[in-house]
Amino acid sequence: MALNALDRHLVLVGFMGAGKTTVGREVAERLGRPFVDVDDELERAHGPIWDVFAREGEQAFRSLEADFVRRVCAGREPSVVAVGGGAVETRGLLRELDAFVVWLDVDIGTAWRRVQGSRRPLAQDDAEFQRRFELRQPLYREVADAVAGDAEGVVLAAAGVRHEPGSLRELGELVPGDGPVALVADAIVLGIYGPRAQAALATRLVSTHELPPGEPAKQAAVAQRLWGELRLDRGGTVVALGGGCTTDVAGFVAATYLRGVPWVAVPTTLVGQVDAAIGGKTAIDVPAGKNLVGAFHWPARVVVDETLLATLPERERRQGLAELVKTRLLAGRDLDVRGAAAYKSAVCLRDPYDRGERRWLNLGHTFAHALEAAADFELPHGEAVALGLLAALRLSGRDTAEVERELDPRPVRVDPERAWEALLRDKKRERDAINVVLLSDGGPVVEERPAAEVRRELERLIV
Ligand SMILES: NC(=O)c1ccc[n+]([C@@H]2O[C@H](COP(=O)([O-])OP(=O)(O)OC[C@H]3O[C@@H](n4cnc5c(N)ncnc54)[C@H](O)[C@@H]3O)[C@@H](O)[C@H]2O)c1
Ligand SMILES: [Zn+2]
Repeated sequence: MALNALDRHLVLVGFMGAGKTTVGREVAERLGRPFVDVDDELERAHGPIWDVFAREGEQAFRSLEADFVRRVCAGREPSVVAVGGGAVETRGLLRELDAFVVWLDVDIGTAWRRVQGSRRPLAQDDAEFQRRFELRQPLYREVADAVAGDAEGVVLAAAGVRHEPGSLRELGELVPGDGPVALVADAIVLGIYGPRAQAALATRLVSTHELPPGEPAKQAAVAQRLWGELRLDRGGTVVALGGGCTTDVAGFVAATYLRGVPWVAVPTTLVGQVDAAIGGKTAIDVPAGKNLVGAFHWPARVVVDETLLATLPERERRQGLAELVKTRLLAGRDLDVRGAAAYKSAVCLRDPYDRGERRWLNLGHTFAHALEAAADFELPHGEAVALGLLAALRLSGRDTAEVERELDPRPVRVDPERAWEALLRDKKRERDAINVVLLSDGGPVVEERPAAEVRRELERLIV
């Protein structure tokens, strides 16, 4: 079973009327992949499906369909492929493909309303429709790596993200496989959610590892201690329960222990749920800088349970709010936690190794990092990001009202010279013109701006 659609075809299955074409097109657009609608392509090549059925029978059609699906999925470029509702009736077809299969689920009433009266061979009478629907439900369930109800759900599934209130209770089933599990959490999170997570993992749990809360968890010494404590073989899984500090260090340890074991992230902060736990970047801090040592190691699953945020202190919630507002600006529309997690998932699936579009996620961060460094990291990241967003919006010639209203950024008292030096250090080779992420009418862009202009905007953030 595939765990995600990273570097793999994403195949959408589901009953007629589930909306595979509409959803498939949207998912392909979000993931920046080609979209192939198998029914459309077959109609183009062989005429209306109705006629093929009438002329040659259903079996002949299924075999044309299977050949075509195999051919598309043999292509190298990962695509989004919507297959006909009946493709599951071709034994073994969807299992043999090296693809991530998502079942787009629909209730029978909605499906019937959508297809009634259309010229689809199997949509001609109510009773036959219902019979097929019931026949296929178990087949879809059997071939699917994940189930979704809309485009956002498919994108989340493609990244291995499960968003469901209360899912901590099901953690035992949500950790892929049936091997042993090592639980990693900081002292605070362990105090609140440790017993529930341990109960959910039940007999799979072999050890629990406590971290210091906050950034001190991301020290090499902590990673080293975990390497020494873990007793997993390659069939084992590291489960990281906590904020970005926990998922960063536990993910890094999972990436390096035995040259890599699978890991599952259960983010418990807003920062974690919309940002840190998604996308497979893991890291620790070293004296030369934050996040300087790490690995790309995509989590086998990310379990987003928003009910866990109920205990999060307001101060921590505000950190995440800054990233949520950043994501809304990037997406150009209002987003909740699920929407923001899906946005980050899509960007990371498009650019898993940070070679291009993933830089968009740094909107405002060039300024934020400079202010944080000039404040000796006493300035919380979220507050720095809120200020950085102001600068990015101003440089983009955009209204700052939403950021002011939601995040209320206040200029900080730091040495402007130190902040500027830090910004230049961050940008290494760039001196006269500086690359910054900006917003354009077509969405985010990375653009060169004159150093003097960038410096002026940085200084407006400082009292
Ligand atoms: N890997 C990535 O892509 C990525 C992206 C963004 C940020 N990060 C990293 O994430 C880190 C920041 O993460 P964070 O803001 O989640 O901080 P964090 O992990 O330190 O958590 C913040 C505090 O909240 C507590 N806490 C966590 N969940 C709680 C809950 N549900 N109830 C009560 N208390 C809770 C923790 O014990 C901690 O004290 C930084 O190190 C940053 O570099 C990584
Ligand atoms: Zn950030």
